Amino acid sequence: MMAPSGLVFLLCALYLVSGIPTGRWSDVYAVEPELKRLVDLAVREYNKASTHKDVYRQLQVTDARKQLVSGVKYDLTVLLGRTLCKKESNVNLDKCQFDYTNNVKAQKCNFSILVVPWINETKILHQLCSQEFTEEISSQKQDTLSAESEDEVLETMTLFKDFVSTYNKQYSDNEEATRRFQIFSKNLKKATEIQSMDQGTAEYGITKYSDLTEDEFRAFYLNPLLSSQPPHPMRKALLPTDSAPAQFDWRDHGAVTEVKNQGMCGSCWAFSVTGNIEGQWFLKKGSLVSLSEQELVDCDNVDHACGGGLPSSAYEAIENLGGLETEQDYSYQGHKSSCSFSTGKVSAYINSSVEISTDETEIAAWLAQNGPISIALNAFAMQFYRKGISHPFRILCLPGMIDHAVLLVGYGERDGKPFWAIKNSWGLDWGEQGYYYLYRGSGACGMNTMCSSAVVH
Ligand SMILES: *[C@@H]1O[C@H](CO)[C@@H](O)[C@H](O)[C@H]1NC(C)=O
Ligand SMILES: *[C@@H]1O[C@H](CO)[C@@H](O)[C@H](O)[C@H]1NC(C)=O
Ligand SMILES: *[C@@H]1O[C@H](CO)[C@@H](O)[C@H](O)[C@H]1NC(C)=O
Repeated sequence: MMAPSGLVFLLCALYLVSGIPTGRWSDVYAVEPELKRLVDLAVREYNKASTHKDVYRQLQVTDARKQLVSGVKYDLTVLLGRTLCKKESNVNLDKCQFDYTNNVKAQKCNFSILVVPWINETKILHQLCSQEFTEEISSQKQDTLSAESEDEVLETMTLFKDFVSTYNKQYSDNEEATRRFQIFSKNLKKATEIQSMDQGTAEYGITKYSDLTEDEFRAFYLNPLLSSQPPHPMRKALLPTDSAPAQFDWRDHGAVTEVKNQGMCGSCWAFSVTGNIEGQWFLKKGSLVSLSEQELVDCDNVDHACGGGLPSSAYEAIENLGGLETEQDYSYQGHKSSCSFSTGKVSAYINSSVEISTDETEIAAWLAQNGPISIALNAFAMQFYRKGISHPFRILCLPGMIDHAVLLVGYGERDGKPFWAIKNSWGLDWGEQGYYYLYRGSGACGMNTMCSSAVVH
């Protein structure tokens, strides 16, 4: 069977970015088409071999790993559910519905699949299924899995109309609007898929970015340099010896300015750094001043303005420049212009910067004692995030693939789930009034991999 040439590229990209040595287990990006192809294949083979009269179909992929051997070996764990389709008929698996009126009969199966792209072969090596059990299906899972009907298309059109008016979207012509509708429609499904796989309490769905393809979103709003460039080395921060309070939020202590908006520019690194310095300045000097990102976009020549940057090099640029002007004096444009920084207008300086920790308990302790922290994370779950505590599977949100810088302002627990409170720079009309809540305690989305702060004396 043909493996799409995209597979080879995807694997290379994953190995390069996450730096996982050949031959060791690593995770697979589960919403990738290649994984879907393998799951479909496994399910077809399962149905062929099984003695049931009914057709089974995937409810959920609960684990996916891969290993380079003499090819690429995938180990998938898939929850299969009994559908209303009978085997005799020539069934189209995608059209087979589960019997939602009853709880679905399910089985958990492990499949080992070998893909050898260079000889165009995909082979199931091994399959092992659990006893049948009864699985309650959530409405979210139903949505992902039910085949699309005309009603659904109409419903999607209504949603799109609302979306266009809510976010004041303007498209150049009908053709563009149609294209955006198609993307919107695909994104709704993707959001439902992300929803059905979330382990937290988050709600995913329509956001102001729902009419962008993943590539567009990545190009306009994310920061490729975070995982492709080594951070500038920094001194290690002194960690508090006393343990962290159970919860803490710098918004309650006046150390955080309003949520800003980076616009269509990959300048998150600048917002993450100004947010941190606003906090440090407030804690050392007692006044909260909104600081200029545009100064960094224009004048930090180590970083790449809207093309991305690293907090670690931004600190150094600020030290070299002599400080930051205020937001008011050097206001945000969202594109690079020539540097018009003036030393006379500096309203906050920094003396150095420190790298904090990768241990979330230590990060919390440092934060509670010292202020908001500049962090970077994998923004996988953020394009369609609406509210609640986001907790994607590790395979979907690899820590090695950080692509967005933000500001950690607090932490706590909601309904027994530990979270980090994260200030984003996508405006107030994204997430929970501009904030993202991410599961705390498992290094979710690599949030613990690039924690740093400026130091103000
Ligand atoms: C690989 O297999 C597929 C289907 O089996 C076939 O269509 C395709 O042409 C093959 N490609 C190569 C390079 O052999
Ligand atoms: C499937 O694999 C997982 C680990 O990959 C293992 O924990 C589990 O017991 C396996 N289940 C079956 C039914 O073999
Ligand atoms: C920190 O930096 C400021 C501005 O550059 C400078 O005036 C001050 O002396 C520095 N403080 C220390 C302790 O180095």
